Amino acid sequence: MTVLDLVKVGKNLLRRSTNSWLDSELLVSHVCDCDRVAIYRDPDTLVTPRQYRHFIELANARARGQPVAQLLGLTYFWSLSFVVDANVLIPRPETETLIETALELIPSTGHYAIADLGTGSGAIAVALALERAQAMVIATDVSSLALDVAERNRCFHKASQLFLLRGDWMAALGTKKLDFIVSNPPYVESNDSLLQDSDIRFEPRQALASGKDGLDDLRAIIKQAPERLKPDGFLLVEHGYNQGLRVRQLFAERGFQKITTRRDLGKLERVTFGQRVCQ
Ligand SMILES: C[S@@+](CC[C@H](N)C(=O)[O-])C[C@H]1O[C@@H](n2cnc3c(N)ncnc32)[C@H](O)[C@@H]1O
Repeated sequence: MTVLDLVKVGKNLLRRSTNSWLDSELLVSHVCDCDRVAIYRDPDTLVTPRQYRHFIELANARARGQPVAQLLGLTYFWSLSFVVDANVLIPRPETETLIETALELIPSTGHYAIADLGTGSGAIAVALALERAQAMVIATDVSSLALDVAERNRCFHKASQLFLLRGDWMAALGTKKLDFIVSNPPYVESNDSLLQDSDIRFEPRQALASGKDGLDDLRAIIKQAPERLKPDGFLLVEHGYNQGLRVRQLFAERGFQKITTRRDLGKLERVTFGQRVCQ
């Protein structure tokens, strides 16, 4: 069997997924250790029996709903590659709105202290550390298994000014005061059927669910942030598309100013920030 035949076998096995051809291409290039272009440049390359068995195993897992990124152990965020596994959320394209907003607020030079709370794979923290080389970035997570993944990504990207700490939201930061706090916390309603019925059931529940209204972790972070920010410091959070109004209210209740919400590429409210202004 050739690599191109194998893509066709995969497309058929994955016929219920929306991206069956792309998923099949990605799995073929993974098991055959070639890039996707090579499938079309050398379509007659023969597949070994071992590669075939490995492909069928992965395609069956994909057909059961396991995300391609978990099967490959790799995904892309902010044009950077990140190792992922079942212990971390797979970084999402909409989270790039958080990076874009942060980069508008964080000057390109200066020794700023930045915290990324709930870092998971470390995607946000690594992207910010690479974009703001003079800044110190502290990334925290309550999950030590997630921090192991973040450490691999930190090393791979040689983000030497990035430090990883374990702990519950701000508690992990000790007494350190920050110029910028960013976070993409869990924000899905705990009884949302997506948590059981969609492919996200393969990702850690601790990274997704946040109480009845999905706002428990956002409430905790917004409440704790003012005393951890330096005067004029900013808090930036990602949230659900329908949570913008409530999140702006939470910022206002804690005295934040310049409260602003940004939309993602799908034009949905996605990131809210505010500044701690001392009177
Ligand atoms: C939505 S995921 C975000 C992961 C990553 N920052 C990203 O954007 O891809 C939320 C992360 O928050 C972490 N988390 C959940 N509860 C936490 C807590 N109480 N304190 C610190 N981190 C927590 C989870 O382990 C998970 O890695």
